[in-house]
Formats: sequence, structure tokens, C-alpha cells
Amino acid sequence: MISLAGLVTALTAAAAIVIAAPTTNNPTDGILEARQSSPPPPVGVHDGYFYEFWSDLGGNPVSANYSLSPGGGFGVEWDTFPGLTFTFGKGWSGANHNYHKSIEYEANLTLEEGGALFGVHGFALNPLVEYWIADNYSPVFENWVAMLPRQDKGEVTTSSGVYRLYLEVRTGFGYPQGVFRLYWAVRQTKRSSGIINTGEIFSAWASQDMGLNRHEQMLLSVEGWIESRGSAQVEMLGPPGGN
Ligand SMILES: *[C@@H]1O[C@H](CO)[C@@H](O)[C@H](O)[C@H]1NC(C)=O
Ligand SMILES: *[C@@H]1O[C@H](CO)[C@@H](O)[C@H](O)[C@H]1NC(C)=O
Repeated sequence: MISLAGLVTALTAAAAIVIAAPTTNNPTDGILEARQSSPPPPVGVHDGYFYEFWSDLGGNPVSANYSLSPGGGFGVEWDTFPGLTFTFGKGWSGANHNYHKSIEYEANLTLEEGGALFGVHGFALNPLVEYWIADNYSPVFENWVAMLPRQDKGEVTTSSGVYRLYLEVRTGFGYPQGVFRLYWAVRQTKRSSGIINTGEIFSAWASQDMGLNRHEQMLLSVEGWIESRGSAQVEMLGPPGGN
């Protein structure tokens, strides 16, 4: 189910087919900016933050309307029936950032139907690793994680909360390298606001032989898959983009 966002898009030069239009929010709520450039392109830099909309191209287009609000903020409404995956997120991309960040957010999330999650989604290279720090998720996601062929690396208590760590090794998915590792940190109590100290999660992973070498991308993201329907309005209170 997991999208391999920008990296795969870049590596395979696949063009995302996007059905994106700005949401019909009240123009006074910060969406006005996005409405003026409707629809925003699927990848870009907005107000100092890298952003990306990605969907797998498995057959049917995904319906996801996203909008960009000031700073690291964004909104997405989606309906992935009959079952495509999408991700949308805002954050940092490229080698010249310090990826140990305290990401403070406030969000209004509706993640009830189908597979859906919200949190910090990233990639590192050499070796290729995809990771998720999941702060909120749907019931389907919980069942899915429980059935996942993965190694349970136990629970860790951080200043961001208590997370359960998993290592998943995947093959295929059109990846040039064939095999890649996916690191999970799943917050044991879901939340819709708070601060994620990414460096603490990176350290917790590293202590379980789950290191990250060259950070490449890290976005505060939403993902939907398996007949997912929902919405997210996200405000990023810090840190500033661009560094
Ligand atoms: C996206 O916007 C279009 C046009 O306003 C609308 O018809 C569609 O229902 C929206 N999709 C979602 C998932 O909100
Ligand atoms: C969430 O909803 C509340 C109530 O409508 C609103 O005041 C707040 O600004 C919203 N937050 C975001 C991040 O959209």
C-alpha cells in the first residue's frame, strides 16, 4: 500500500496523473492562496516548504483535492475508491537540510474509512529506506499493521510520546534496487496535534539496527489507500521551511 513518493517518481520518471482541484473551503480560512493558482502542480515549493502530491498509477485515478495554505499548512480531501494510494505532504527535500527537526503541527483529521494515516513520511538513500512516524491512522491501518510481515522492535518512549517500532523489508514495487526497508514508528495513542522530534525517533530506530544514512526527503504527510475516504486540514507551526 505504501507509496514511494518522490523518490520513485524521480527514479522511474513516472508522471503522476493528478485529478486535483482546490477544495471549496471558505476563502477566508487560508486556502485563498491555493485557489488563486488552481490547481497547484503536484510537486513544488510553496512558502519555503517542499510539497508533493503522489499517487500510484495502478489503474484508476485517485480523487484527491489538495490545497496549500501558508507555511507548512495544507488541506486534502480524498476518496480513493476503488483503491488507489496517494500521499500528500509538505516539508523538506534534498540533501542540504538538517533532518533532525521538531515538527509542531495542529490538524483536523478524518481518517475513518479505508486505509489512512498521518505523520512524518521520509526517505533516506544508500541504502534506500522509506519511513513513517505515524501519529494518527484509521482502524484499517491498525489491522494492517498487526498483520504486516515485519519485525516488531518494541516500544520506545520519546518526548513525542510512546511509539511502537517495526522493520519491514519489501521487495519489488518497481524499485530499481529490488529490496528496500521500511521503518515504522506508530504512536500508541493517536493524536491530532503536538510536536514530533524526528531525531529521537531516528535514534530509537538506530538502536535497533535501523539506521538512516543520507536523508533525502521528509514531509508532514497524509496517505490514503484501500477505499479510503477522508480529509485533513493541517497547520505546521514549526520549524520554518527552507532549511
Ligand atoms: C474534488 O473536487 C471536485 C470538484 O469540486 C469534486 O467534484 C470532488 O467531489 C472532490 N473530491 C473529493 C474527494 O472531495
Ligand atoms: C480545525 O478546526 C477548528 C474548528 O473549526 C478550527 O478553529 C481550526 O483552525 C482548524 N485547524 C486547522 C489546522 O485547520
